[in-house]
Amino acid sequence: MHANPLRDPQDRRLPRIAGPCGMVLFGVTGDLSRKKVMPAIYDLANRGLLPPGFSLVGFARRDWADQDFAQIVHDAVKEHARTPFREEVWNQLSEGFRFVSGDFDDDAAFEQLRRTVEELDQLRGTGGNMAFYLAIPPSFFGTVVGQLKEHGLADPGPDQWRRVVVEKPFGHDLESARELNHILDRVFPSGSVFRIDHYLGKETVQNILAMRFANNMFEPIWNANYVDHVQITMAEDIGIGGRAGYYDGIGAARDVIQNHLLQLMALVAMEEPVAFDAESLRIEKQKVLASATLPPRLDTTTARGQYTAGWAGGEKVQGFLDEDGIKKTSTTETYAAITVNVETRRWAGVPFYLRTGKRLGRRVTEVAIVFKRAPHLPFSQTATEDLSQNALVIRVQPDEGMTMRFGSKVPGTAMEIRDVNMDFAYGGSFTEASAEAYERLILDVLLGDPPLFPRHEEVELSWKILDPVMAHWAKKGKPEPYDSGTWGPSSADKMLARDGRTWRRP
Ligand code: BG6
Repeated sequence: MHANPLRDPQDRRLPRIAGPCGMVLFGVTGDLSRKKVMPAIYDLANRGLLPPGFSLVGFARRDWADQDFAQIVHDAVKEHARTPFREEVWNQLSEGFRFVSGDFDDDAAFEQLRRTVEELDQLRGTGGNMAFYLAIPPSFFGTVVGQLKEHGLADPGPDQWRRVVVEKPFGHDLESARELNHILDRVFPSGSVFRIDHYLGKETVQNILAMRFANNMFEPIWNANYVDHVQITMAEDIGIGGRAGYYDGIGAARDVIQNHLLQLMALVAMEEPVAFDAESLRIEKQKVLASATLPPRLDTTTARGQYTAGWAGGEKVQGFLDEDGIKKTSTTETYAAITVNVETRRWAGVPFYLRTGKRLGRRVTEVAIVFKRAPHLPFSQTATEDLSQNALVIRVQPDEGMTMRFGSKVPGTAMEIRDVNMDFAYGGSFTEASAEAYERLILDVLLGDPPLFPRHEEVELSWKILDPVMAHWAKKGKPEPYDSGTWGPSSADKMLARDGRTWRRP
């Protein structure tokens, strides 16, 4: 047919297996390592996608032996891995575990790390290929990458690679993001820096591109002529749990809108890429972010809130200000909603409403494309009273799939038209379960396959969009309280009501 093989020389249906390599994990005691990175490594090994000699080096201040580190990984895998525990896989994998103890500014520890990396190459045949995963606060990035450089770890030998993986927050505003990028740039060439936005690793998020660009029925109506507005929602029922240290002062907008939601918006709004490779995809996403603007009145086009006590999953839960580690005077928002305009011919006049919050009614992430009403309805007014706007809803999680909402005649002798839904559910169409986002992304790092990683221009453009909102809120004092278990503050409803619209109740 019309696929162009020259654009994608690799057959992506074949299992992609990483070549000889290893990983050094900084921040082994953190939540991210335990809940996501370690289980994903085991799951990859279990699926046969890691090389037999794959090696994992933990680096932390703890006074641990290799076995202690292996025990930590073991516990993390037992608790959080998605695939069954198999002794033979574990035994082979854990033979490649090493632990290096030290502070980030400890030269002797980095010398030890260098020796460990060399030994692993001799012993397990890693080929000297190493990914350095910085699951640590960004304030330490400078020290760690400086040490990697200093001790010769950042520079690959001939036919080797060295890559660095960083996690958000990529700064807390445009300026700090630039500084971070500068720190990384000084040590690693841009092609060796992998910024993880785990939303891009989600199957349903990648499917936005498949849906848009592999079909012919969506693209013709994917523009301001037909689309009224777009709602992007990432709602969580959980509170901040034990993450007060990270979350207080960061808040919902920096935690989720700056990265996950603006990336989702870019995928929904972008033009067709020339090819499905990193460069082409990033160029198109970047154009969307560069053309995004905020409407002039931030008072009425944004909303923020902070959860108070209420109910979640049938249990009484405490308010944000009563959570462990949160100051009673904290003005950190746990709910954020913003309006973004994408100033292009395709999207002129179509607002993108982005919202996220903790302790909301339920956990759901979705993108809803809401269409304009039909220009003319040849029915009596009473026949269409119950008809709302057509919508295409991409259900990112938890119930992965897509829903199309349109009007249909209610059976009977009278003409009465009501909304109905047509559903596609992943579970009903495919037998394979989606891989966890981290599995996909870690494998991509080891393969050096960058399409799913935002590059620094995208990160900076996203801060450019968000910075004025944060500055505006900083002048406003406390966010509006909302009860846990509800759908956020009333200002969020007013924000849409002013435009004659309402939020979907997912
Ligand atoms: C993270 C945020 O990036 O995403 C968390 O820091 C949030 O606050 C998490 O809970 C949600 O991820 P997921 O994949 O469960 O939607």
